Amino acid sequence: MREALQNIKTAAEELLSKADTQQQLEELKVRFLGKKGELTAILKQMGGLSAEERPVIGALANEVRESIDADLRRRAKELGDAVLARRLAAESIDVTLPGVQPAQGKRHPFQQVLDELKDIFLGMGFDVVSGPEIEYDHYNFEMLNMPKSHPARDTQDTFYITENMLLRTQTSPMQIRTMEAQQPPIRIICPGRVYRSDAVDATHSPLFHQIEGLVVDKGITFSDLKGTLEAFIKKLYGEETRVRFRPHHFPYTEPSAEMDMSCFKCGGKGCPLCKGEGWIEILGCGMVHPKVLENCGIDPEVYSGYAFGVGLERITMMRYGIDDMRLLYENDLRFLSQF
Ligand code: DAH
Repeated sequence: MREALQNIKTAAEELLSKADTQQQLEELKVRFLGKKGELTAILKQMGGLSAEERPVIGALANEVRESIDADLRRRAKELGDAVLARRLAAESIDVTLPGVQPAQGKRHPFQQVLDELKDIFLGMGFDVVSGPEIEYDHYNFEMLNMPKSHPARDTQDTFYITENMLLRTQTSPMQIRTMEAQQPPIRIICPGRVYRSDAVDATHSPLFHQIEGLVVDKGITFSDLKGTLEAFIKKLYGEETRVRFRPHHFPYTEPSAEMDMSCFKCGGKGCPLCKGEGWIEILGCGMVHPKVLENCGIDPEVYSGYAFGVGLERITMMRYGIDDMRLLYENDLRFLSQF
């Protein structure tokens, strides 16, 4: 019997060391320690032993049971640890991997310059308003002193929806809409899209953008116009920029002027960009024509005002040294992401 117990122990030790799943361990446990297992079978035969031998064999049997039991538990733990180690290795996250950088968008150069321009005028007390792109002839031309026969209409042909409705050719109709809707003091800028029947080239597009400005109050003079527009240009292009005003004609301002700024590239010495002039034409402006004030129910004897219109394309191209307007519309990210 001693021998049989010893054999069980050795066999169990060997099989247990080879078992490599929890299920195999379970089967070995049943086989050796179960109710119908090999050890129990031996113990059942103990009745046939002598009184001296019984406790000795009993103690030995216990020892074997405990030893097998301990082996089972040790092996179970080893297998459990191995499973855990495998899972940890498989599911591990390498926190040192660089993250995936989300592609970051940015504002179009138009929007950047427009935002800056708005900031400058908001800082000077202006409101920002917007108006319809489909406009009445009445607002786009008539009320601005440009009757049907006016030659200035020739340079502003556009798409007519009906005889009286068109795609606006300028943001100036917003002067009229604003003055009709409110009495002075008025201080607004109005950015927006405008349309003209022009073929596409480096400096023309049938769709482009303007920013209109209008100030009406008591005692507004040409020096207010000059001071405000000079401050605007210096903020946008730098303090060293100089401006000059040249007499011009617009039907809705009197007197009218065009404003030039010193060339940002050569500083006024003359270069290919300014065609050797040293100056770059930047906007149209003037004192609001008394007739336009009257058209809107504002008494020109009491109030005066100034207005200006500036092209967003032009100031953006000047700002970034872009020499072809088409680049701003083509949406090529290789170009746009430079700004
Ligand atoms: N509307 C003019 C244009 O499209 C620009 C302009 C000139 C607007 C003089 C004005 C102004 O308000 O006073 O060319």
